[in-house]
Amino acid sequence: MSKHFEARVARLASNLYLLRLEDRETRFFEALWEIPEGVTYNAYLLDTGEGMILLDGWKKGYDDLFMEALRSVADPRDVEWVIVHHVEPDHTGTLPRLLEEAGGPTVLCHPMAVGLIEALYGVKPRARVVRDGETLVLGQEELELHYTPWLHWPETIMSYHRGLRVLFSGDAFGSYSIPGGITDEDLDPADVLGFSRKYVATVVGKYRQHVVKVLEKLSSRGVEPQVIAPLHGLVWKKRPRLILDKYLAWAQAEPVKGKVLIAYGSMYGAVEEAINIVSRRLEELGASITVYRFTDRERAPIGALLGDALDAEALVLGAATYESGVFPLIRYVAEELAEKAAASKPVLVVTSYGWGGAAGRRLSEILGRAGFQVHVVEFRGSPGPIRGRLLEAADRLLSGDLG
Ligand SMILES: Cc1cc2nc3c(=O)[nH]c(=O)nc-3n(C[C@H](O)[C@H](O)[C@H](O)COP(=O)(O)O)c2cc1C
Ligand SMILES: [Fe+2]
Ligand SMILES: [Fe+2]
Repeated sequence: MSKHFEARVARLASNLYLLRLEDRETRFFEALWEIPEGVTYNAYLLDTGEGMILLDGWKKGYDDLFMEALRSVADPRDVEWVIVHHVEPDHTGTLPRLLEEAGGPTVLCHPMAVGLIEALYGVKPRARVVRDGETLVLGQEELELHYTPWLHWPETIMSYHRGLRVLFSGDAFGSYSIPGGITDEDLDPADVLGFSRKYVATVVGKYRQHVVKVLEKLSSRGVEPQVIAPLHGLVWKKRPRLILDKYLAWAQAEPVKGKVLIAYGSMYGAVEEAINIVSRRLEELGASITVYRFTDRERAPIGALLGDALDAEALVLGAATYESGVFPLIRYVAEELAEKAAASKPVLVVTSYGWGGAAGRRLSEILGRAGFQVHVVEFRGSPGPIRGRLLEAADRLLSGDLG
C-alpha cells in the first residue's frame, strides 16, 4: 500500500521548483468535505540568483517532510523571501519551522496577513506588506503582486512572474485529488476537472463572484499567464485557458444542458419511491441525472454533491418532514446549496409527511431566499396516489416552467 502522505519535488523551469505534498491522510478537507481522492499542497521555490523566494508552504504537521523537500533543492538559509498568498493553515502550517531554520527571511504578504500569522502561530516574522499591483524586484527576478480578496480568505494575494508568464494563483484554479502527473501535459484534464469543480463549490463557493472579479482585474492589468500554478492539484501548463474558463463557468453556476442533480433522504422509503418516479420520468425525457442518496444504506458525499449542483441545469431535492422540520441531512444540504451554489435555477422539492407537513415550506424558504425557483410536491405517507402530479412536475422541471 502506498504511504498516506508523500513529498514530490519537480522542476518547472530552470529556476523554479514545485514542492508538492500528496496527502492521502486527510479524510475530510477543512474537517468538512469527503476527499477519498486526496489533496495536494503545492509550494513553489524561485531562485532569483541572489537568494530564494519560497511561495507558500504545506499543512500543519508536515514540517520535517517539508524541510527535507526544501533541502533537496536549496539550503533553507538561502531563502530570503517567503510569499504568503493567504494565511490558511493548509499552506502556512510549515511557516514557523521554516522561519526558524531559514534565518530570518522577509515575509511578503497582504497587510492583514501579518496580524493573522501572529494570531495563529504566535510568531512575528519580519514582514513587508505589499501594495495592490506592486512590482517587487527580488534578486534578479521581478514579481507582480495583486490583491485577490476572498479567494479564499480576505487577505489573499496572487503573484505573477511576467517573464515566465507564471501566475501563482493561490487556492484559485486549484483542484482536489492527487494527479499522477505534475502538469496537465502529463494527463487528460478530464480526469481532474470534476475535482476542480468540487473544489470551487466547497472552498470558494460562497465567494464565487470574486472569481469573476479577479479574472477581470488580472486581465485589465495585462496578466495573461501561460502557466497557472495553484496551491492544490495540477499545474496548468498546456491549457491554462481551460482551467480559467472552467472556473469562470462554475463561478457563474453556468448550467450544462440537460444535467439534473437529485439529492434525497429517505428513512423508510416513501420519499425514495417518489424520487424514483420523478427520476425515471426525467430519464425518459433525456435528462442526464446524478443522484445522491441519504438512506439507511447510503450516505452520499456532500462536497461532491455541491460540485454537481454548480453546473446542473435543475435540481430535485427529496426529504420528509422530521420532528416538525426537514429531515436533517437534507436540511443541511439545502443550507449548503443556498450558501455555496445559489443560482436562479429550478428546484423540485419532493416531500412526505405523516401527520403535519413542514419540510416543504421550510425547504422552499431556504432555497427561495438563495434565488432558486422552487416548486413543492407534498404528499402524505406513500406517493402512489399523487403519481400524476410527480410526473407533471418532472415535465415542467425540464421545460423550465415550474410555475
Ligand atoms: C423520526 C421521524 C420523525 C418524523 N416526524 C414527523 C413530523 O414531525 N411530522 C410529520 O408529519 N411526520 C413526521 N414523520 C413521518 C414522516 O414524515 C413520514 O413517515 C414520511 O413518509 C417518511 O418518508 P421517508 O420514509 O421517505 O423518510 C416522522 C417520521 C420519522 C421516522
Ligand atoms: Fe484556502
Ligand atoms: Fe488551500
